[in-house]
Amino acid sequence: MTQQKTWSQRFESALHPAIARFNASIGFDIELIEYDITGSIAHAKMLAKTGIISKQEGEQLVAGLEQIRQEYRLGEFNPGIDAEDIHFAVEHRLTQLVGDAGKKLHTARSRNDQVGTDTRLYLRDQITQIRSQLREFQGVLFNLAADNVETLIPGYTHLQRAQPVSLAHHLLAYFQMVQRDWERLGEIYKRVNISPLGSGALAGTTFPIDRHYTAELLNFDGVYANSMDGVSDRDFAIEFLSASSIIMVHLSRLAEEIILWSSQEFGFVTLLDTCATGSSIMPQKKNPDVPELVRGKTGRVFGHLQGMLVLMKGLPLAYNKDLQDDKEALFDSVKTVKGCLEAMTILLSEGLEFRTSRLAQAVAEDFSNATDVADYLAARGVPFREAYNLVGKVVKTSLAAGKLLKDLSLEEWKELHPAFESDIYDAIAPSQVVAARNSYGGTGFDQVRQALQAAQSQLSGD
Ligand code: ARG
Repeated sequence: MTQQKTWSQRFESALHPAIARFNASIGFDIELIEYDITGSIAHAKMLAKTGIISKQEGEQLVAGLEQIRQEYRLGEFNPGIDAEDIHFAVEHRLTQLVGDAGKKLHTARSRNDQVGTDTRLYLRDQITQIRSQLREFQGVLFNLAADNVETLIPGYTHLQRAQPVSLAHHLLAYFQMVQRDWERLGEIYKRVNISPLGSGALAGTTFPIDRHYTAELLNFDGVYANSMDGVSDRDFAIEFLSASSIIMVHLSRLAEEIILWSSQEFGFVTLLDTCATGSSIMPQKKNPDVPELVRGKTGRVFGHLQGMLVLMKGLPLAYNKDLQDDKEALFDSVKTVKGCLEAMTILLSEGLEFRTSRLAQAVAEDFSNATDVADYLAARGVPFREAYNLVGKVVKTSLAAGKLLKDLSLEEWKELHPAFESDIYDAIAPSQVVAARNSYGGTGFDQVRQALQAAQSQLSGD
């Protein structure tokens, strides 16, 4: 089907076919179709309400637009490259359906404020969906944490064993990151939810439109105060890509830990068959493809953020066609974030098991209780730095002797410092080491139980 271009009267000849393809966005902005229809319905209602078109014309437009929505849902509306973009595609179809009234839809509107409206309506929905996925993911982290308050896991700094922690504490760290992601998207939503409709091409319109009415019909919280800003602002997209990038940082860090934990060297988790894949050549392999893909896909979301910043930096006011290129970045980021959140939620809820006996063994076989020996002396009046040096010495000699701190006899301890008593053995037992870190926000079991309670109310908060 060859459609007459809406702007064709000014032009002598048709677009070069390759340029038509190059110029067209219908291949991807079809994603916006339902938002375009919804936005147009609000616009049509406003045109009728303000008397810019007749009531009857308004009704014809709304009915025609709803019909296009149905056709699309039934798979019967498939605009081709000739349509150029989703806005023209819908308008052309509308005119086929309702005749001359269809040609009035674009009164007092430009594709520039139209596309800005569509993109915001789309992103608003996506943010709501992503926020509920974040909540679901938090729920999984929470449950896993609740089941593992007293499961110990080595805690690392510099990827060197540092101090043991409660596995729940480790998982709740991610819970808090995701909490911030959820809050951040809520903040951004407020700025996405502002209507540019009625900004016209850039300068407003000569018609007596009612921007507040369309905003209200579309559930926007307000309208852009400046029409030039309205058609050319993409801050909301940059903010969304930034928040998406931060979500991906969090998912990628957790993914990286799971990859490490599932290695033979760590052996902290077992990947279950539902979430692990094999090798085509090495029959013994079970690969952590899910977290690897999450880690890998993080890069493209960062790329989209960067791309969007660069897209905007040199744009003179107001609309420029460069802005058409915001969409694929947004669509791909949305798809990636949603896909990764879904995969990580499944992975954590049913795709892996912590090997608790291996974890218990891991925390018992190292010097991650050394700080506790120094703290033991410091609590008995020895200046911390002095205690620290003494313990450094005993770690060195123990390492040379192939012993752990728990293997030292009371005589050896007393030789090191007379303040040591037999309760040193309790003080350096891994579960005591963890329990003792009872400062607010620390890994002590009491703290972790309180943190779980706080997390529970964060989960039900809004
Ligand atoms: N397809 C365009 C976009 O996505 C719609 C706006 C076109 N406006 C224009 N003046 N050419 O940005």
